[in-house]
Amino acid sequence: MIPTLPLGADGPQLPAFGLGCMGMSEFYGKTDDAQSLAVLARAHELGVRMFDTADMYGNGHNEELLARFLKTGGRNAFIATKFGIRKAPGEYARSIDNSPDYIREACEASLRRLGIERIDLYYVHRAETGRPIEETMEVLAGLVQAGKIAHIGLSEVSADTLRRAHGVHPVAAVQSEYSLTTRDMEAEVLPACRELGIAFVAYSPLGRGLLAGTMKSGDLAENDFRRNAPRFAGDALEANLARLDTLRTIADQREATPSQVALAWVLAKGVFAIPGTKRLSYLEQNIAAASLHLSEDDIAKLDRAYAPGSFTGERYTAEGMKGVSA
Ligand SMILES: NC(=O)c1ccc[n+]([C@@H]2O[C@H](COP(=O)([O-])OP(=O)(O)OC[C@H]3O[C@@H](n4cnc5c(N)ncnc54)[C@H](OP(=O)(O)O)[C@@H]3O)[C@@H](O)[C@H]2O)c1
Repeated sequence: MIPTLPLGADGPQLPAFGLGCMGMSEFYGKTDDAQSLAVLARAHELGVRMFDTADMYGNGHNEELLARFLKTGGRNAFIATKFGIRKAPGEYARSIDNSPDYIREACEASLRRLGIERIDLYYVHRAETGRPIEETMEVLAGLVQAGKIAHIGLSEVSADTLRRAHGVHPVAAVQSEYSLTTRDMEAEVLPACRELGIAFVAYSPLGRGLLAGTMKSGDLAENDFRRNAPRFAGDALEANLARLDTLRTIADQREATPSQVALAWVLAKGVFAIPGTKRLSYLEQNIAAASLHLSEDDIAKLDRAYAPGSFTGERYTAEGMKGVSA
């Protein structure tokens, strides 16, 4: 059984493991819709309810894929999607847009692609620099009132932005990168979420696959996002893989995989995690991590071995880093 957590003060109680659907459309190499639909159905069968997507994943493809899943099952699925990153089809170049008209347009487009009448959780994918978050929250509050979205979320915001946003309308969830490779959120954002009763959703809880310990740079496809991410590029990947000893030792002691230990560590922090996969075998392995109990000693060892800043290379390019902690 997956443990459950509340989604903010007014949200539902949901299983703490959701499913990250991004890789089913883009970013991590080849995709296969039939296989992805089988993963979505199996995740639902295993008790997953939160399905995480965004309008920009595959330029709408990911939301349309979820619509196909919802049509054939997916009862009580909880759909989280995001707006705010605009890009032209086939191009990597992107811009951040939180203008009121664009938000309303983007919401309608997501509803249409998803084939639903209300989005359960609508995130600001990236806050636009220079635009007051209060203005964005007013627009989103209007969408709640109009019944187009049920809950509001923010992704990769600073604690200060979060507090200001929450002052306008309750924020149900913050989604930011959090794993043994990326612990920046522990300084200010996680404490702010705890104080304000806001759920925290850890994206890339496997460090974009790094913590599985099996990745080889030569295996990454030509269009794989990680080829250009400093943490995976050049010698950084080898250096980072060489740091996984403590994780591997605990995994051996617990008769688990490094991925499972990495996910159990995230759950032990009392937050949601949305590991992403397009493969049934990984999905089943990841969900089984909900039953893996790490001792306090295991957690303390992991905390020490992977103190913030232990890994080489930033998680995004310099351009990408401009959009985080906004
Ligand atoms: N808000 C944001 O800005 C933001 C940014 C990034 C991601 N996200 C969300 O967070 C979700 C999860 O993050 P993520 O997909 O980037 O990273 P992740 O969950 O840390 O890792 C995904 C990668 O790990 C591999 N993997 C998964 N389970 C594995 C296992 N048991 N053994 C070995 N490898 C395994 C996957 O391989 P396969 O692909 O081959 O299955 C994929 O390459 C995304 O799907 C997306 O919904 C949000």
